[in-house]
Amino acid sequence: MKIAVIQGPNLNMLGVREQHIYGPMTLDQIHEQMKMSAEQNGMELEFFQSNLEGEIVDKIQECLGEVQGILINPAAYSHTSIAIRDALAAVQLPTVEVHISNIYKREEFRQNSITAPSCTGVISGFGPFGYHMGLIALTQILNEMQAISQAQNEEEK
Ligand code: DQA
Repeated sequence: MKIAVIQGPNLNMLGVREQHIYGPMTLDQIHEQMKMSAEQNGMELEFFQSNLEGEIVDKIQECLGEVQGILINPAAYSHTSIAIRDALAAVQLPTVEVHISNIYKREEFRQNSITAPSCTGVISGFGPFGYHMGLIALTQILNEMQAISQAQNEEEK
């Protein structure tokens, strides 16, 4: 099972940027921890970070046929990007949107996610642990999908 982990703008600055909001961990450290727990669960992760909206749209499109699910923190683009929302809707893959901070208790402009309606679900406010929660959620969703399609195949036999 392969999952794409897509990180939006300024997340490459984790560990430096606004530590009182996002904590001290760097993106590499977060990814390293995710990799370790994913390996234990037989999952393969592919990491991608970009500060550019179009590159994130390209990456989402490339996910089709390549990965089984997407874990995405669109960062500031969550609040602005119809293009990323449309790309997620186009590929129709199980997708979990993660926010390190609780966007619902921050400035009003962060309280709406334009991209979230194209996702299976959203995790917000649990710090970097939210990425692990997202992986657990994706594993559960993909296992359920597999069980359903196996049952359908059995019926057809
Ligand atoms: C963020 C929240 C966004 O509002 C912000 O622009 C980010 C990070 C989060 O993970 O909490 O860059 O997505």
